[in-house]
Amino acid sequence: MSIQWYPGHMAKAKREVEENLKLVDIVIELRDARAPYSSENPMMQEIIHHKQKIIVCMKKDLADHKETEKWIQHFEQEGNPSLAIDANHPNDIDKLIKKVNDLGEELRDKKIKKGVSPRPIRALILGIPNVGKSTLINRLANKRIAKVGDRPGVTRHQSWIKVQNSFELLDTPGILWPKFEDEDVGVKLAAIGTIKDHLVPLQDVAAKMIMYLQESYPEGIKKRYHITEHDYDMWEVFEKIGRKYGALESGGKVNFDRVANIILYDLRAGKLGEITLETVKEIFE
Ligand code: G4P
Repeated sequence: MSIQWYPGHMAKAKREVEENLKLVDIVIELRDARAPYSSENPMMQEIIHHKQKIIVCMKKDLADHKETEKWIQHFEQEGNPSLAIDANHPNDIDKLIKKVNDLGEELRDKKIKKGVSPRPIRALILGIPNVGKSTLINRLANKRIAKVGDRPGVTRHQSWIKVQNSFELLDTPGILWPKFEDEDVGVKLAAIGTIKDHLVPLQDVAAKMIMYLQESYPEGIKKRYHITEHDYDMWEVFEKIGRKYGALESGGKVNFDRVANIILYDLRAGKLGEITLETVKEIFE
């Protein structure tokens, strides 16, 4: 399941996606609504060139809806049709199908005007690990499709899924690597579960999340852990959470690794509230 991206993997993944791009009209690019900037593949635009794309922010149920709206507006202003969805919400899946369909109609009309006889519109899902690619394919196919290995460059038998008589979807997604460029991005990607837990310093990530929540979303941690904005000492914060949840070693010492796990589990499960880790303002203004 976990991918460690080496240059060879990246080159292979890029090549594979480029091959598949030749087969499709529309790219459905997935981002995580909790970190819509950090969850973009750094070479996405270069890889897809001028191919028409739709940006879909997944897991909107876990993100701050006000910030999600601003992100969607931002992407639309940049000229990309976009929407945010909760993959477990059938209405949202219908909205996405409509969006792809509308875009598909436009592309078909253009082709007809050029005298090309149109074939059904074809689409491909692209995104970084764990963003929700398989889940979305399953929802669009309206059935459970066996999950293929999460490794880039795996040769697979490909077929097309007919989505509600509307468009055709490649049954395997394109898996691309996340941004590695700076520490902040890395922390956010670790927090949302893109980078596997055994590859990151979990205590640091959890501590940074607590600090971020104290500043931006203090209510959730107040309610769940009784931690306030004024609990500056991270040692004490971990101690408090550890004792509350019985994350203790024999001898009664708090196990900080387990506390980090508790914090990240709660954050990812939405138990600390609906949280967005980066805003349009902070990234682009
Ligand atoms: P991938 O193919 O891009 O690697 O991602 P995948 O579909 O495996 O999804 C990763 C995790 O994200 C899964 O949870 C999935 O259920 C969850 N997920 C996908 N879309 C949404 C969404 O819109 N909202 C929420 N809340 N979760 C979403 P998991 O815990 O890893 O697996 P599972 O136990 O749910 O199967």
